[in-house]
Amino acid sequence: MTRDPSAVRDVESGHLAYFESVGSGRLAETDTPVDVRAYVSGVRLPLFNVAFAPGRTARLASIGWVADRFGDLRLPHLWWLLPSNDRRTLRSRLERAGYTLWEESIGMSLDPSGRRASVPRPSGLEIHEATTGLAVRDFAQTFTEGTFERDPDAADAIARRFASLRRQRETVLLVGYLGGHPVATSAGFLHDGLIGVHAVATLPRFRHQGIGAAMTDEILERGWSAGIRRAVLVASPGGTSLYARMGFVACCRLLAYLREPKPRADGRKSGRGPGIDPRPSRLRSPG
Ligand SMILES: CC(C)(COP(=O)(O)OP(=O)(O)OC[C@H]1O[C@@H](n2cnc3c(N)ncnc32)[C@H](O)[C@@H]1OP(=O)(O)O)[C@@H](O)C(=O)NCCC(=O)NCCS
Repeated sequence: MTRDPSAVRDVESGHLAYFESVGSGRLAETDTPVDVRAYVSGVRLPLFNVAFAPGRTARLASIGWVADRFGDLRLPHLWWLLPSNDRRTLRSRLERAGYTLWEESIGMSLDPSGRRASVPRPSGLEIHEATTGLAVRDFAQTFTEGTFERDPDAADAIARRFASLRRQRETVLLVGYLGGHPVATSAGFLHDGLIGVHAVATLPRFRHQGIGAAMTDEILERGWSAGIRRAVLVASPGGTSLYARMGFVACCRLLAYLREPKPRADGRKSGRGPGIDPRPSRLRSPG
């Protein structure tokens, strides 16, 4: 792992910028504690409702405030421990406030000098930018099913959020098709001379054919053509070897802590729907 401080800063700022944009608004317009930033997206998956305290730790009272507001909305959410945090203090406060470690992710970066030769595209794979409402729906359904599991409500909400991001002209959404059927996704989020790589997913039955690598490569090509100075991403354990093969270098760790809403009095687990495990499928079936 390189400890290049500028790469670490870029990974963190790209991560924050992405979640600030994916959120449709702050958690509350008023009385937000000054030491936290929290965003709600309208998607009932923890990955889309997030809180951070960049550059510092957060007071226990502020963490409780965030947990209560998301609890009022009956939304699961993640608190990201960032490279700039005082990790030991923040981690112990999150645990005291009822958060549990959900996933350890790796921050990775790629400079133009580290680019690898372009990746061969699997036979029959066509990659298109999603520029219409229908294609954005293909993107959202395929990304949701590839990363979590089939979930039409979440896919609709993700389609609405990403359609709005795309209109801001800073987001590229790609869908990979085989025989006319959507099978894979990737997204690029342009910010401050960086491209953040997100939403790389291949439907389970189409994996291990080089599709994920081709989808990532195509997003990177869009970034280099736009003149970006660096690509950044935050990889889940299942994605790191794919990205390392493409030249990405690990530079830091980020920890995601989960807090789910308390069970409802009528027995339903949360707004997410009964019986669905909110963790990405890769965590339930490693490898
Ligand atoms: C991670 C993910 C996108 C990879 O998609 P994929 O289409 O299988 O990706 P690739 O085929 O390019 O690479 C996957 C593996 O298949 C191997 N592979 C590629 N082409 C192959 C071929 N023709 N024959 C056999 N294996 C092949 C690659 O070497 C790679 O192995 P590695 O992971 O040990 O390095 C997919 O597993 C996924 O959607 N996971 C859930 C969502 C997720 O975790 N996304 C990453 C977020 S950071």
